Amino acid sequence: MRIALFLSGLALIPTLVACSQSIEGRGAALYRQNCASCHGPTGAGDGPLVADLPVPPANLRLLSADNDGIYPEERVIATIHGYQGKNAEALMPEFGALIDGPKGVWTSPQGQQIPTPQALLDLSAYLQTLQDP
Ligand code: HEC
Repeated sequence: MRIALFLSGLALIPTLVACSQSIEGRGAALYRQNCASCHGPTGAGDGPLVADLPVPPANLRLLSADNDGIYPEERVIATIHGYQGKNAEALMPEFGALIDGPKGVWTSPQGQQIPTPQALLDLSAYLQTLQDP
């Protein structure tokens, strides 16, 4: 009996791991690994590297508030991807490994379906959950 319980407990583990890989989970993990050092654990722009940066990292919790309450998804994806090109102020690293990953589909506000790296979609979906009201 005890062995059966133990085994059924083990069988649960893969299910739990699968659940934690929801879109938000993947986005959160990517954020922790690639962004939190500058933008901070909650996106407030207060990561441990701030003191070393000549320009403060953006407060990513205010992306919607600073855009008339609408989350600027296109700008966020473009910024992380680097579509806008680098300028002297641009301190964000390039996220080549993320960008080379498998593609998903992003639907633009105009309804266009644009193949976009899934990692960028997951990251953006996660940042959307961090927005201050
Ligand atoms: C080395 C520090 C650093 C890292 C790591 C970093 N950023 Fe940034 N980020 C900045 C700085 C500094 C700015 C503001 C100045 C600029 O645009 O370069 C910024 C700006 C941004 C902006 C623009 C905000 C706006 O108002 O348009 C977004 C979005 C952003 N970062 C998201 C991310 C995401 C997502 C990651 C992880 C994939 C990340 N950043 C990793 C330093 C960093």
